Amino acid sequence: DSTGRAHIGVTGLAVMGSNIARNFARRGHTVAVHNRSRAKTDALIDTYGHEGDFVPAGTIEEFLDALQTPRRVLVMVQAGAATDAVINELADNMDAGDIIIDGGNSLYTDTIRREAAMRERGLHFVGAGISGGEEGALNGPSIMPGGPAESYRHLGPLLESISAHVDGEPCCTHVGPDGSGHFVKMVHNGIEYADMQLIGEAFDLMRTALGMPIAEIGEVFRQWNSGDLESYLVEITAEVLGQVDTRTGRPLVEMIVDSAGQKGTGRWTVKSALDLGVPTTGIAEAVFARALSSATDQRERARELQGGATTAAPVDTAEFIAAINEALYASKVVAYAQGFDQIVAGSREYGWDIAPGDLATIWRGGCIIRATFLDRIKEAYAEDPDLPSLLLAPYFRAAVEDAVDSWRRVVSTATLTGVPVPAFSSSLSYYDALRAERLPAALTQGLRDYFGAHTYRRVDMEGDFHTLWGGDR
Ligand code: ATR
Repeated sequence: DSTGRAHIGVTGLAVMGSNIARNFARRGHTVAVHNRSRAKTDALIDTYGHEGDFVPAGTIEEFLDALQTPRRVLVMVQAGAATDAVINELADNMDAGDIIIDGGNSLYTDTIRREAAMRERGLHFVGAGISGGEEGALNGPSIMPGGPAESYRHLGPLLESISAHVDGEPCCTHVGPDGSGHFVKMVHNGIEYADMQLIGEAFDLMRTALGMPIAEIGEVFRQWNSGDLESYLVEITAEVLGQVDTRTGRPLVEMIVDSAGQKGTGRWTVKSALDLGVPTTGIAEAVFARALSSATDQRERARELQGGATTAAPVDTAEFIAAINEALYASKVVAYAQGFDQIVAGSREYGWDIAPGDLATIWRGGCIIRATFLDRIKEAYAEDPDLPSLLLAPYFRAAVEDAVDSWRRVVSTATLTGVPVPAFSSSLSYYDALRAERLPAALTQGLRDYFGAHTYRRVDMEGDFHTLWGGDR
């Protein structure tokens, strides 16, 4: 049995890994640190060794010997094959009851597979989503650990001590078994995509439909950040729009190529939504909008396409800005409602028993989507843990019903002036479809029965029916 003195070990000392290791050390924990190549370990100790109690280790054996038992090792290496390699090497050298935590952006199905394999070997495997970027990793991220409840008893206090805190509550909680932590982190990232797309559409309306200078638009976001839209993303939008390019003296955003990249978590969210049959349209539109922005050759050729007669910009600028604010808020409620629906559906599919309100609680601080808004979601689920949709929570229902006239006007003005608003408009359509008395799905069923004898159900009788369409009735 090893009797090392470190409370936790971190292996993989790129930016996220070293910042998390420093976070542990700064909170008074003894941290064993290891990296495949020794240079990163030495660099960490040279530059930040004075911040706390680090135990540098050159080999996996030294690393594991430095740890108290049951050993707790946080793996912060590249997702995919590297993570598998590191986990297997650790497992080969660990003892029953030890805990491996994967803090990378792993696909939740990989986490399910790894957890089963480690359980087979008597080890605990915790797939933990960690959000907040480099700064969050250092000063307090939002942490979403999945895995055996028993391992959380050994691990929870340690993770909670380095997480962000809001109103004295840690932004870290046990999400559920196996892949649940990485699943909710994935949906969190998808929601982040939708949030950013909605902000982009609001910006584009002010720039293109209203013709406002960039700096003024930045000022609008700064003001919005002291209202209902208060959030990290709105706050940094104001900063990004206020940044002047030192080379040209123009707003920096005008000098940035308008093709958005993606690393994959948004795409994963949408693939999972399709498999689960959940209409996560806000996230999907955001992912597709990035894809369209990156289709540069196509866009180059398509610039010659005519847009038809577009109407002039709205006359009352201040009034229209207020309407955009309401449209943004309502669309955001839809995007979050859909994201939470996906979490509930995933939880049901995999038997995770996730409490949606817990997520709203731990997303209030540390992570990229942190916002006052999450407090309202937390309250909504506290009031009704089985809420059928966030749109039906009294607070959000009232807010969206108040906003809906402005929302329609913004979407129709965007359409008439030729400003693309895929997320605003699909969110509004989702809202209208959800509240519709009758959907054209009845016709779809008729068509399916016509060409494929797929049968349909009737509104006035039980049973499945098939019609010889066009024949004698
Ligand atoms: P970032 O994007 O911040 O650089 P990353 O690519 O997710 O981070 O992870 C890089 C880390 O994974 C590094 O610590 C790297 O180790 P090296 O410094 O030795 O390159 C580690 N890593 C990548 N592949 C690995 C593997 N097969 N085995 C062990 N560690 C690996």
